[in-house]
Amino acid sequence: MHDLTALLGIRHPIVLAPFGGLSSVALTAAVSAGGGLGSYGLYGYDGERIRATAAALRRATSAPFSLNIWLPTGDEVRPGPEHDGYARGLAALFAEVGIQPPPAPEQYLPTVEEQLDAIWEAAPAVLSVVFGVPPVSAVDEAHRRGIRVLGTATTVAEAVALADGGVDAIVATGAEAAGHRASFLRSAEESLVGLVSLVPQVVDAVDVPVIAAGGIGDRRGVAAAFALGASGVQVGTSFLVTRESAANDAHRAAIRSTAADGSVLTRAMSGRPARGVPNRAVREIEASGAIAPFPAQNWLTGRFRSIAGQRGLGELQSLWLGQSAPLARWDAAAEVLAELRAGIPGSGPRDVRVRG
Ligand SMILES: Cc1cc2nc3c(=O)[nH]c(=O)nc-3n(C[C@H](O)[C@H](O)[C@H](O)COP(=O)(O)O)c2cc1C
Repeated sequence: MHDLTALLGIRHPIVLAPFGGLSSVALTAAVSAGGGLGSYGLYGYDGERIRATAAALRRATSAPFSLNIWLPTGDEVRPGPEHDGYARGLAALFAEVGIQPPPAPEQYLPTVEEQLDAIWEAAPAVLSVVFGVPPVSAVDEAHRRGIRVLGTATTVAEAVALADGGVDAIVATGAEAAGHRASFLRSAEESLVGLVSLVPQVVDAVDVPVIAAGGIGDRRGVAAAFALGASGVQVGTSFLVTRESAANDAHRAAIRSTAADGSVLTRAMSGRPARGVPNRAVREIEASGAIAPFPAQNWLTGRFRSIAGQRGLGELQSLWLGQSAPLARWDAAAEVLAELRAGIPGSGPRDVRVRG
C-alpha cells in the first residue's frame, strides 16, 4: 500500500475536507496541528484573499496544509444580458431577506490563473482540485515548488484521467459525500458510484495513493476504507459540526437531525448538483424551475444565503451534508481525529465499536 503520510509530510492519513465558502482557519489549523492534513476551500477567493488566508493559516500552525480550488470546466457562464432575468427568478427569496434582485457583478468568479498565482506565492504543502484534471503546466509548476497535487474523482475513468495527468494522489469521492458532486467526464447524475464500489476499483486502476471520501463518519468507515485498499480518508461532515468549524447553528442543527436518507442532490443553489438538505429554498427554486447556469446561480443565491446565514435562517441557506450525518457526534476537531485514527489498521486493538 502507498504511504500517504510520507508523501504529504503528515502523521496520520486523515484529510479534513475543504469546504468552499465554509472553511475556517481554526478548523484547518486544528486538523493539521493534530497530525492530519487540514484543507481550506478557496472557492470564489481572489488572489488577495488567498494570500491573507494562507498567512492566517501559517500563523495558526507550522504543520502542512492543503489549499483547494475548483477548476474551470469551460461551461461557466459570465455576467451578461441574461443576468437580470436570472435574478428576477429569485425575487421572492431576495424579498424575504429585504433586498432587491442584485445587478450583475463584474465577474461571478475570479480566474483560476489569479488563484493559482496566489497559491504559488502561498506555497502550501498540497494543492487539491475538483472538477477536472489540472493543466500539465500547473502540475509541473506545483512540483517544481515542492507542492503535492491531489485530484478528485467520482468515477474510475476520472481517476485514470487524473493519474495520467500526473497528480500525486486521488480523492475518490463516493455518492454519499456532502456538497458538490465534482464529476467532470460525465454528468454528476451518471457518476453516482457508491464508495464501496468506487474505492477498490480506483485502487486497481491507478498507481498513486487513493484517499476515500464520502460517508466516512467514524472509525468504522475508516477501517472499511483501508480494507478496500485506500491509503487515507477525507472526511467532511463529521468535522463540520465541531466547535472549530465555521458552520452556523442552523447548519449544525441540520447535521444533527438529518437521517441517512434525508439529503438530496440538487442544482437549486448553485446550478450544479450538490448533496444537502431539501430545505424551503431548495424546494421553492426547484418548483419554480428558475435555476440559472453555474456560477450565476451560485452567485445569485449567495446574496440571500449570506444574509440568511447571519440571521440563522436555515430554510434559506445551503445546508450541505453527507449521508453519514447521523454519525457526526464529536464537538472538537481533536476528538474527531482521535475517533478516525482508531479505525486505521494497526492503530491499536481492532475494536470498531463507536465511542459514546
Ligand atoms: C459545506 C461543504 C463545502 C464543500 N466544498 C468543497 C470544495 O470547495 N472543494 C472540494 O473539493 N470539496 C468540497 N466539499 C466536499 C468535501 O470535500 C468532501 O468530499 C465531503 O464532505 C466528504 O463527504 P462527507 O461529508 O460524507 O465526509 C464540500 C463539502 C461541504 C460539506
